Formats: sequence, C-alpha cells, structure tokens
Amino acid sequence: MKRLVMITIWISLAIFTAGAIQADGDPAAGQAKSQICAACHGLDGNSLMPQNPVLAGQVPGYIAQQLAQFKSGVRKNAIMAGMTQLLSEQDMQDLDAWFSSQTAPPRTVSADDLELAHTGEKLYRGGDSEMSVPACMGCHGPAGFGIPPNYPRLTGQWSTYLEDQLLAFKDGQRASPIMGPIAFRLSAEQIKTLAVYMSALQ
Ligand code: HEC
Ligand code: HEC
Repeated sequence: MKRLVMITIWISLAIFTAGAIQADGDPAAGQAKSQICAACHGLDGNSLMPQNPVLAGQVPGYIAQQLAQFKSGVRKNAIMAGMTQLLSEQDMQDLDAWFSSQTAPPRTVSADDLELAHTGEKLYRGGDSEMSVPACMGCHGPAGFGIPPNYPRLTGQWSTYLEDQLLAFKDGQRASPIMGPIAFRLSAEQIKTLAVYMSALQ
C-alpha cells in the first residue's frame, strides 16, 4: 500500500514536471518582445560578440529560469538586472519559447587550439576522479545539447563566455549549488581547455 502511494506521488510529480517543461510561452509573442534583446543577443539569439551569450537553441525552460534569477538578483549582472526589471513571468516564458526554438550553427576549434580541446574532451567525458570532478557529459549530454529545463546547452556557445561563467562559478560570483563546487575544484587552465572543447562539441 505504502509502495502504491509512493508510485502515485511519483507519477503525479512526473506529470507535473512534464507540464512545467512544456512552458506556455508563445514564440511569436516572444519574437515581438525580443527587439530590445537583439542589439546584444542578435535577432535570432545568435550574438555577434563573445561577451554576449548565444541564446538560440538553448534548452526550453533555461532562459526563463535565468531571466527570473537576474530579476531577483540571485544571478548578478548589472546589464541583465536592468533588462529584466520590467519583464513579467509571461514575458519570460514567451522570450524563452522564441529563443529556444531558434538554431545555433555549430562552431569549430581553430588549429591552434586542437591540443587544448583534446585535454578538455577527456575532462568533459570522464571527469577527474582524483579531484572529485564529475563528468560534465552526465548533465550536459554527450554532445553538449543539455537536458531541459535545468541543464543548459553548451555547444555552439562562445568559448570565452563559457570560460567566464566557469570562473564566476569558481570564485562564487555566480551562485550555483551544483556548478559552484564543481568549478571550485577545476584549475583556470582546465577551465580554459573545457571551454574551448565544449563550444565546438558536436
Ligand atoms: C546591452 C546588452 C544586452 C541586452 C540588451 C540584453 N542582454 Fe542578455 N546578456 C547580456 C550579457 C552581457 C549577458 C552575460 C551576463 C553574465 O555574464 O552573467 C547576458 C546574459 C543573458 C542570459 C543568460 C544566458 C546563459 O546562457 O546563461 C539570458 C537568458 C539573457 N541574457 C536574455 C536576454 C533577453 C531575453 C534580453 C531582452 C529582454 C536581453 N538578454 C537583453 C547582454 C544583454
Ligand atoms: C550534476 C549536474 C551537472 C554536472 C555534472 C555539470 N553541470 Fe554544468 N550546469 C549544471 C546546472 C544545473 C547549471 C545551471 C546553473 C545555474 O542555474 O545556476 C550548469 C551550468 C553550467 C554552465 C553555464 C552555462 C550558461 O549558459 O550559463 C557551464 C559553462 C557549465 N555548467 C559547465 C560544466 C562543466 C565544464 C562541467 C564538468 C566539469 C559541468 N558543467 C558539470 C549542472 C551540471
């Protein structure tokens, strides 16, 4: 009986979560609201400058979640704090639906960086057991596409942005109960190799 109750709870939770993943954002409404974002993130979420992250093709749900974190100040960034103050929850869902439905073209590693990428690949796929660093692919996927809604897509992203975020997790500037302890145990050199690899992962 107890077991049956547990299973029922589990199934209702699973249905509830699936509902939350299919957020009720409207991509067309999101596109209309995204004009103000385009200057930095590009019309379709493919930004032209490495300090502004690519939003195109991000896992559904992640963009809305991060916008809420910027608005509440959990994730600290002066520009994005300003950008989110006037956004409602529905705006965030719509923007999420628009950008996550766009495509991000694959990137390639430059010849000079092949060796770095090779070192990054080993860490990404196997982690570092001596340093208790888990394999990144466990949460971000073997091809870096992420898992909706919580585990972000990394492939196609600017490598300098990935590096900056890992350094921000490492020194606690960007708070994350999951990524904080992982990045803390990585050296700046390891972070560099991972960023180069993940950006062009396919
Ligand atoms: C003036 C430039 C600028 C504008 C305009 C802007 N952003 Fe940003 N955005 C940034 C920068 C810079 C970052 C990186 C912040 C950081 O380092 O934490 C960022 C980060 C983000 C992130 C986090 C991405 C990730 O992978 O973690 C999201 C989501 C986002 N912006 C969405 C938007 C949306 C939606 C709009 C329009 C309502 C917008 N931004 C407008 C510059 C901008
Ligand atoms: C247990 C699951 C898990 C593992 C393992 C994991 N990550 Fe993450 N990662 C996350 C979550 C969750 C977030 C979102 C953080 C947040 O919302 O604060 C994230 C965010 C990130 C981001 C920021 C992306 C963005 O667009 O803002 C990068 C970069 C990253 N992870 C790299 C890595 C690397 C490199 C490894 C391996 C050394 C790794 N992750 C291992 C769960 C994980």
